[in-house]
Amino acid sequence: MRTPFVVGNWKLHKTIAESLALVTELKNQLGSLREVVVGVAPPFTALHAVAKRLEDSSLVVSSQDCYWEEKGAFTGEVSPGMLRDAGCAWAIIGHSERRQFFGETDETVGKKVKAALAAGLGVIACVGETLAQRDGNTTFQIVEQHLGGVFSGVDATQGAALSERIVLAYEPVWAIGTGRTATPAQAQEVHAFIRAWLAKHVSAAAAAAIRIQYGGSVKPDNAATLMREPDIDGALVGGASLQAADFVAICRAARPA
Ligand code: PGA
Repeated sequence: MRTPFVVGNWKLHKTIAESLALVTELKNQLGSLREVVVGVAPPFTALHAVAKRLEDSSLVVSSQDCYWEEKGAFTGEVSPGMLRDAGCAWAIIGHSERRQFFGETDETVGKKVKAALAAGLGVIACVGETLAQRDGNTTFQIVEQHLGGVFSGVDATQGAALSERIVLAYEPVWAIGTGRTATPAQAQEVHAFIRAWLAKHVSAAAAAAIRIQYGGSVKPDNAATLMREPDIDGALVGGASLQAADFVAICRAARPA
């Protein structure tokens, strides 16, 4: 079965000292949680310090983005190899805020996924529709388009082990940071669609193995009902991951029944 995976996406929050305080708390409270993989995605500046602090724990570290070239004249970018060097095991790629504010496209998502996997990083790839797209009944079309971008960077012939290193996050843009969560039924409908897409375009094995996180205003009081849906395998948590108590409660709620 798929082990639930909950990741805290800290976005543009926390100094190094604040990051260390939070992960020390998480390590103390979640160190013995075996049924859920827990990760944090601090800002680039805190990655190395956080990874060091978590070295002897089961918590994993992710970046919030990465570039697709390994080195060169690309001012401001950070490569997958540098992220590995800093202690990262995962990279979030294609978050809607990157798409909305920083010109991320399905093409750049594919390139980043390919480079991250090649460097040995796991990938948490985000897909999801805006409110206008949902209201215009194009949710499935948009999600399909995003999946096409993600998997343009994946060599499906690489087999089962790869399914462990690719995680999808369904994040309806209208639910991110708005306090307006998708209902469990709304989320499950899209998660099932994603799994069917994987079965058709990647493989039956990948469809069964790939974890699909839900993201968008996940809080301690709605996490358990979302996680109970058959195709929801964890969460990508923004706002509620900035406080230890809330994030710990969400991670515990993700334990399989
Ligand atoms: P939120 O963010 O939990 O604050 O809605 C989720 C995300 O953007 O990953």
